[in-house]
Amino acid sequence: MMTLAQAKEKLAQYGQEHVLKYYDELSEKEKESLLTQIEATDMSILSSCKNREELAKKGVITPLAAMQLPEIEANREAFTATGIEAIRAGKVGAVLLAGGMGTRLGSDNPKGMYNVGITRELYIFECLVNNLMDVVRAADAWVHLFVMTSDKNHEATVSFLKEHDYFGYNAEYVHFFMQEMAAATDYEGKIYLEEKGKLSTSPNGNGGWFVSMQKAGLLDLVKKEGIEWLNVFAVDNVLQRIADPCFVGATIQKNCVVGAKVVRKNAPDEKVGVICLEDGRPSIVEYYELTDELMNAKDENGDPAYYFGVILNYLFRVPELIDIVENSLPLHIVEKKIPYLNEAGEAVKPETPNGYKFESLVLDMIHQMQSCLPYEVVREREFAPIKNKTGVDSVESARALLVKNGVEL
Ligand code: UTP
Repeated sequence: MMTLAQAKEKLAQYGQEHVLKYYDELSEKEKESLLTQIEATDMSILSSCKNREELAKKGVITPLAAMQLPEIEANREAFTATGIEAIRAGKVGAVLLAGGMGTRLGSDNPKGMYNVGITRELYIFECLVNNLMDVVRAADAWVHLFVMTSDKNHEATVSFLKEHDYFGYNAEYVHFFMQEMAAATDYEGKIYLEEKGKLSTSPNGNGGWFVSMQKAGLLDLVKKEGIEWLNVFAVDNVLQRIADPCFVGATIQKNCVVGAKVVRKNAPDEKVGVICLEDGRPSIVEYYELTDELMNAKDENGDPAYYFGVILNYLFRVPELIDIVENSLPLHIVEKKIPYLNEAGEAVKPETPNGYKFESLVLDMIHQMQSCLPYEVVREREFAPIKNKTGVDSVESARALLVKNGVEL
């Protein structure tokens, strides 16, 4: 562990000395834990919030054609057969990204614990397991399910799923791992204190999932079990199809190293990232990076060129993931609500954003891959994200879509 002198030196280097403001008031144990945290925190990234805009520089964007519904329908049987074969052979694993804080939803519990039921209990985690069970039944094989949590929600997630008997899933096929945390700062890049002896930290984004899986020793399991594909998906889409055999089969048959589920945008300015090529490699342009020119561009058929939005459901080939595991991902600096201690040392839970979190994102992994199959899905059947309490992408809109898909609430 660092000594106080070493901590002071490190903090001085990054202009973060203020985090020791209450040091003398702390117990020995609290002092130790603060020093440990200071040692473990990467502070070199914090100053980059001053040049946020420059971070987002993109290369040359050109269209990447998606596999669209008619082609999928024409080949559904063959794709599905290939996918089922791979799943039955144990070659496909699923990775649930559930380390986020879900601050927009405003519940202190892990998002997956949210009850979307009306006349009965129906949790988000339960919806996801139910969807995966369809595949388990079709393939007559269990699919390894890796669940990423963070320091902030690990205990709650694990005990909730245990308590509910994994909603009928086979516990031997469920594996938890924790992601890393990053410090959160004010708009000047100064780390907030969450408690007198604790830096404010938040999960460091969903981009580190494979690194974290490896750190947790789960790559050994992946190799031992012969898992060749990992289907990464977000916790908050209750219609998410996981390890979808047709999608798996299409990606395999097209010889792509990644598949990305996409939906046709419902308006040119819809707030989803669109799939494209960037400097000739697959990539995603975030909606806030989409220029008017790109928004209105047409492909060679005269159709909108950047019209397929990603829904955070990607199928990665494991050997390529191993190839890129050492590569760093670009940093995203995001405005969020960060609990902090005010000048008087009182804990505050802000109602509006008050600073930055530093994240890496899974979508940036796509650009490190040689090939990617954008695979169109029907929005009403597969995309019901719960981000907000009301309005767009909310509990309300997801409930309506669940009902539309025959799920009793
Ligand atoms: P979001 O981008 O919606 O972030 O996550 P969030 O933190 O959950 O929600 P807000 O913005 O605070 O309201 C998309 C997916 O990535 C996961 C989330 O759990 C969700 O499944 N995620 C996000 C992580 O696993 N780790 C992270 O650090 C961030």
